[in-house]
Amino acid sequence: MDPDFGMRGGGGIMIKDLDNQVATLKALAERRKAGALSRGPLATPPVNEELSQRRVPHTMAITSGKGGVGKTLVTVNLAIQYARQGLKVLLIDADLGLANIDVVLGISTPEYTIQDVLEGHLTLDQVAIQGPEGITILPAASGVAGLSALTEEQKLALMDHIDHWNADFDVVLVDTGAGISENVRFFVLAVERIMVVVTPDPTSVTDAYALMKVLFLNHRASHFDLVINQVRDENEAKDVYRTLSQVADKFLNVVLNFVGSVPEDALLAQSVRAQNPVSITHPDAAVSQSFKKLSASLMRLWREKRQEEGRMIFFWRRLLQDARGQSGS
Ligand SMILES: Nc1ncnc2c1ncn2[C@@H]1O[C@H](COP(=O)(O)OP(=O)(O)OP(=O)(O)O)[C@@H](O)[C@H]1O
Ligand SMILES: [Mg+2]
Repeated sequence: MDPDFGMRGGGGIMIKDLDNQVATLKALAERRKAGALSRGPLATPPVNEELSQRRVPHTMAITSGKGGVGKTLVTVNLAIQYARQGLKVLLIDADLGLANIDVVLGISTPEYTIQDVLEGHLTLDQVAIQGPEGITILPAASGVAGLSALTEEQKLALMDHIDHWNADFDVVLVDTGAGISENVRFFVLAVERIMVVVTPDPTSVTDAYALMKVLFLNHRASHFDLVINQVRDENEAKDVYRTLSQVADKFLNVVLNFVGSVPEDALLAQSVRAQNPVSITHPDAAVSQSFKKLSASLMRLWREKRQEEGRMIFFWRRLLQDARGQSGS
């Protein structure tokens, strides 16, 4: 079988050289060292000991090969589950999908975005919105181009701002949008875990494979947390997982974790129309319970990984470290 696993059109997602990012990061690291980034609207405080002692949040990017598979719903409901467990949650809305986080949560369209932070006239506190259950939302998308309109340097500066934000989050979830967009490339490098949402629809499965392949080949991503959405039952979820993991095992050197599944449920579509997440309106419904289970499985994975690796380094410090590692310096 073609290793592209029937990618649509021989590659609905083209594999190109995606690693300019590392070169940019390396240049940034050098400029930062030389003090060139310490002035202007992108000014960022230096890393200090106090910061490196701080609680480090669990971070995850939620992505998919194909659009419209439920990323935003999974992200928002996971956020609510964690908030209900008493955790402090930050949601970064890096997507401009059909249903944005603000729409799904029924909060007013954000007036400002991180663009305003990057331009230097607002702080993250001023741009962030409070959502239900004490969730903090960072509207990162602005205009049709969204975050992808930002330069690498601006994105890195954004991460730096977040890293220095005077708010201790336990969990940071980034809704990245679908496919191999700039956002996906950037955030998957900056977070601890990558969640791929997939449905039993064959095009969703092949696109998920194509996405993982690109992230593996070009970005050294080697672990993916799979959530199968809109399933009839657990068997259907397991079938999708088996199909994907068989091809991945054969052609890619990656680990696919089956994190869980979410049933097809009219309550979810209703919740979008009502702009009120199902985990709030129907906490005992099967679909809300599936989000609760997901939140527990993910937390387990985060914790196990931390135990293996010790302290995780967050965002740009890790990016810069990766960039240095790649350059062999
Ligand atoms: N488990 C489900 N059961 C029923 N409907 C669902 C389910 N999951 C998603 N949907 C439907 O799919 C729609 C798209 O979901 P969502 O906006 O979360 O997808 P997305 O992957 O974020 O899309 P985009 O790629 O456009 O950002 C929802 O509005 C809802 O109607
Ligand atoms: Mg979305």
